[in-house]
Amino acid sequence: MNTPLIDPFQRAVNYLRVSVTDRCDFRCVYCMSENMTFLPKKELLTLEELDRMCSTFIRLGVRKLRITGGEPLVRRNIMTFFEAMGRYLESGALDELTLTTNGSQLERFADQLYAAGMRRVNISLDTIQEAKFTDITRWGRLPQVMRGIDAAQKAGLRVKINAVALKGFNEDEMIPITQWCAERDMDLTWIEVMPMGEMGEENRLDQYWPLKDLRATLAETYTLTDLPDRTGGPARYVRLEETGQKVGFITPLTHNFCESCNRVRLTCTGQLFMCLGQEDMADLRGALRDNAEGEGKLEEAIRAAIALKPKGHDFDYSRQRVDGQMSRHMSHTGG
Ligand code: GTP
Ligand code: 5AD
Ligand code: SF4
Repeated sequence: MNTPLIDPFQRAVNYLRVSVTDRCDFRCVYCMSENMTFLPKKELLTLEELDRMCSTFIRLGVRKLRITGGEPLVRRNIMTFFEAMGRYLESGALDELTLTTNGSQLERFADQLYAAGMRRVNISLDTIQEAKFTDITRWGRLPQVMRGIDAAQKAGLRVKINAVALKGFNEDEMIPITQWCAERDMDLTWIEVMPMGEMGEENRLDQYWPLKDLRATLAETYTLTDLPDRTGGPARYVRLEETGQKVGFITPLTHNFCESCNRVRLTCTGQLFMCLGQEDMADLRGALRDNAEGEGKLEEAIRAAIALKPKGHDFDYSRQRVDGQMSRHMSHTGG
């Protein structure tokens, strides 16, 4: 039996987030610039390499895999990878295989995802108004995503909506989005905008809408009860007594959840980031490609990387904007 992955702060790492592509069919303004240069395809781990990488992490005790991007479902033949990971659900080596998606391709893939063993998906959606949706994604079409959400629910997938809270953009939709999720029996999480990617014309600080304000808005319409259970993830949850709905808040900047962090992130090029808010990473691709037989080198590289997992992140809006800004794009690390 392999010893599990424990970091220097005694946190067990059992959750791997894997970005399978940096590409996306949308260009959300807080995530990408309009003219993104994507990585050459040869830089990406192949599907077979992704399988080997994830299999090694699972052998080392990872119990939950979340596939992210970019938009994971735009990667060619990605379904073969989901099917390959499904075998670990069947064997009991993995508790959960899940996906964070913009929903654009779900109409096509929802049934196959369910068949591969997936049971829930997180869908990123910041507005339920068509014109605003096209604005924020630069060219996305809301009806396509709505059809994707329908298809996911019809296939039997539980849906959680992730909305990034943006001052001056979706403040007025707080209650409508909450109601819309309640009607469709979907969970909802609001995310504080994080200082990632280059600023360009966007100023993430101006868009910053602290979730405690959002909570106050919600409390004008609903009775909120704090849910004490921590999921090990970054979200804090409240229950809305009137609808019975659970609403989450991800407040990386105002509430630090690092002490219970159980996750690491693999980029589509095989770099392992030990923390979303730190630049430190370990390049696992070399170790992966190095060995002809067995995964010894890779295992060694993974253990060495986990030994470097930092205690917490460095985001800080109280300092000068430039200091707290990270040049890395969310689509590279996978959110
Ligand atoms: P579940 O708890 O399984 O539903 O998933 P999740 O909320 O961890 O995953 P999801 O992809 O929906 O994450 C939503 C967003 O939370 C991410 O895109 C990030 O913006 C944020 N987030 C997730 N993990 C971290 C983390 O470790 N650090 C920080 N700062 N933010 C995180
Ligand atoms: N701040 C907060 N959330 C972001 N996402 C992408 N960029 C940012 C950012 N700068 C979110 C997406 C999606 C998830 C993968 O990451 O909206 O829900
Ligand atoms: Fe694509 Fe998601 Fe980034 Fe929007 S937030 S551009 S949907 S990866």
